[in-house]
Amino acid sequence: MLPPVEPYRIKTIEAIKLLSRAERDAKIKEAGFNLFNLRSEDVFIDLLTDSGTSALSDYQWAGLLTGDEAYAGARNFYNLEATVRDIFGYKNVIPVHQGRAAEHLFFSNVVKKGDVVLANTHFDTTRANIEHLGATAIDCCIETEIKEEHPFKGNMDLNKLEENIKKFGREKIPLVIMTVTNNSVGGQPVSLENIKQTKKLLDKYEIPLYFDACRFAENAYFIKQREKDYENKSVKAIAQEMFSHGAGCTMSAKKDGLSNMGGFFACNEDELAEKFTNLLVLFEGFKTYGGLAGRDLEAISRGLQEVLDENYLSFRVNQVAYLGERISSLGIPIVKPTGGNAVFVEASEFLNHIPKESYPGQALSVALYRQGGIRTVEIGGMMWAKKDDKSGELTFPKYDFVRLAIPRRVYTNSHMDYVAASLEEIKKDKCNTKGLKIVYQAPWLRHFTVRMEEL
Ligand code: F0G
Repeated sequence: MLPPVEPYRIKTIEAIKLLSRAERDAKIKEAGFNLFNLRSEDVFIDLLTDSGTSALSDYQWAGLLTGDEAYAGARNFYNLEATVRDIFGYKNVIPVHQGRAAEHLFFSNVVKKGDVVLANTHFDTTRANIEHLGATAIDCCIETEIKEEHPFKGNMDLNKLEENIKKFGREKIPLVIMTVTNNSVGGQPVSLENIKQTKKLLDKYEIPLYFDACRFAENAYFIKQREKDYENKSVKAIAQEMFSHGAGCTMSAKKDGLSNMGGFFACNEDELAEKFTNLLVLFEGFKTYGGLAGRDLEAISRGLQEVLDENYLSFRVNQVAYLGERISSLGIPIVKPTGGNAVFVEASEFLNHIPKESYPGQALSVALYRQGGIRTVEIGGMMWAKKDDKSGELTFPKYDFVRLAIPRRVYTNSHMDYVAASLEEIKKDKCNTKGLKIVYQAPWLRHFTVRMEEL
C-alpha cells in the first residue's frame, strides 16, 4: 500500500529550530512545567493544538487581498454567508472571533441558572461557558475501552441521554449538543445513524439539537469511510445531511475552517439570531464582521470549501493514523482507532511508575519537550481532576491522555517519524521520567496557568 502522501506542495516555509537539551530543560523549568507558558519559538514541533494552526493555501492567501474592511456589509461576509448556507444549510450566519465567543453569546440567550445541557461530550470551553451561567453540563458519550476498535467512539449514548432528560425534566434542558468530531474523547467521529437517532429522541421531548461543528469535515469523512450507505456519497453531501438534523451550530473556524482565527454561529430560527446579534454588537462587533477583518472572513469562506476536498481529507486522516501506528508499534498505549485531529497517548499505563496524583500525563508532555522539543497537551488529571466540595478530596479521570494534535497542512510525515522516535527514546529510559506537583492553580481551566515542580 502507498504511504499517505501530502496532496500539496510546499510553497513557503518557516524555519524551526531545535534548542539544545540543556536549553530545553531550562525553558520548561522556567515555564513552571506548563507547556502553555513556553514561547512557540522555543518549540521544535508544535502539537499543542490543531486550532488556528493551519497553513493557508494559495487560494486563501489570494483571498486575503480581496479583504473588504468595511464596518458594515463587507463583500467577504456575503461570500462566507453563501458558503455556510450551502454546506450547513442554516439561514442565519453570524461571524464571531472564535468558537467560544459563539458559545458565550448563544448560551447567554438560551441557558439559565439551574438548567442542564447534555452533549455527547462538551469541550472544555463549552462546559466552562455553561457552568459560568450557573447551569450544569453533562456528557452522555458511549463508553468504550481505549483499545476497542469501535468505528464511532464519539457517539451519543441514547439511553444515558434519555435517562438524563427524564431525571431533570424537559423544561430544564434548553438544548442538546452534538460535538463532531468528539474532540475530548480522542477526536472520535459520530455516525449519521447516531445523529438521526438522537434527533428522533429529542423530537419526542421537543428539545433542539445543536452541533459543535469545529471538525465537521473530518467527521463526514469518517462517515464516508465507515458507515454503510454513505460510501458513495460526497463528503459535502454527508456534511449537509448531518446538519439537516440540527437547529443550528457553533463553529470554530480555527479547525475545519482551515483558518487562523474566526468562527460563527448559524441557525434557522430568526428570533434567536436576532437576540444573538444584539449581544454580538455589544461583545464582538457588527453582524457582518463579528470581531473579524474582511480578509479573515474570506479565508474562512475559502477554507470551508477546501476542507471538503477528499484528497486532502484522506491524507489528513491517514497522517494521524500513520503517527498512531508508529507509536502503537512501540508498545505505547494510544486510543484506537485514531481520530481525525490527534493521537491520544494514554500515559498512566505507559508511565505506570507515576501515580495519578503525580500527573503522569503532564509528566509525559514535559518529557516530550525535553526529549525532542515537542509540545503537546495533557488531557487527564491535570485538566480534569475535581475536588469534592465536602471531603476536599481529588477525584481523577480514568485516563491520563497526552494529545498529539496535528496542525492541518503544516507538518510532513518525516516530522511524524521524528515524534515517534522521540517517544521511543523516552520509553528506553522511562523510569527516569518524574511525576509533578502543583504549586499554583487558578479556580477554573487551571491547566492554562498552572505552575508545577518536579518530584
Ligand atoms: N469546541 C471544540 C470541540 C473545540 O475543540 C474547541 C477548541 C472549541 C469548541 C472552542 O473553539 O478555541 O475557537 O474558541 N479547541 C481547541 C483545541 C482550543 O485545542 O482543541 P475556540
